[in-house]
Amino acid sequence: MGYYDSLYIAIKTEMTQRINRCEELRILRGFVQGLSGIVIEIGCNAGYLTGEIASAENVTRTIGIDTNESVAVAMLAKIRNLGKGIKFLYGVSGTRITADNESVDGIVLSHVLEHFEDPAEILADLRRVLKGDGQLVVAVPKEKYLGEFTPDHKILFGSLADLERVLDTNGFKVVEAREIARAIVVVAKIAT
Ligand SMILES: C[S@@+](CC[C@H](N)C(=O)[O-])C[C@H]1O[C@@H](n2cnc3c(N)ncnc32)[C@H](O)[C@@H]1O
Repeated sequence: MGYYDSLYIAIKTEMTQRINRCEELRILRGFVQGLSGIVIEIGCNAGYLTGEIASAENVTRTIGIDTNESVAVAMLAKIRNLGKGIKFLYGVSGTRITADNESVDGIVLSHVLEHFEDPAEILADLRRVLKGDGQLVVAVPKEKYLGEFTPDHKILFGSLADLERVLDTNGFKVVEAREIARAIVVVAKIAT
């Protein structure tokens, strides 16, 4: 079982998110409010941000994906998002999305990218499914050293420039960015 594959860790992760990441969440909410059409959230955990995405005025369909296979986490996500028309896919990786090429308008990746040894693994598939004018919203923890917040981080994002470099290398261009004390949040588009 992976670190995040339990109800306890899912709830603990979300409590930390709500308590320590207030400012970051406010920025994230603002960015996801600007999304429209079909949006996928990768690493949706218990579906807190997924509900915020689905509430955005111009979002028509929201799909939450997480590798977590816990039935309890999936149930919690569904119950708290009743009536919002969200589809949740648990036990599914963002590196293997079954969506067609260029079929998705928005993708949200909050505190997921830093867990990849090789970010190309996930960003290649996201670039494939995102429409040409689609938006990618990414939030990462801003650490002074790798693993400052959690030992299972694989990439150090010490500044906005680090995140821009990773996205740029993988075919995305940052169009809006906010860098705060403990996080970096950006909106990116496919580079042309
Ligand atoms: C640090 S938590 C972040 C949860 C939430 N998005 C947040 O901002 O607090 C990372 C989440 O990403 C999920 N995850 C990790 N690798 C993934 C992958 N390849 N595809 C989908 N989800 C993944 C984990 O199961 C976990 O729920």
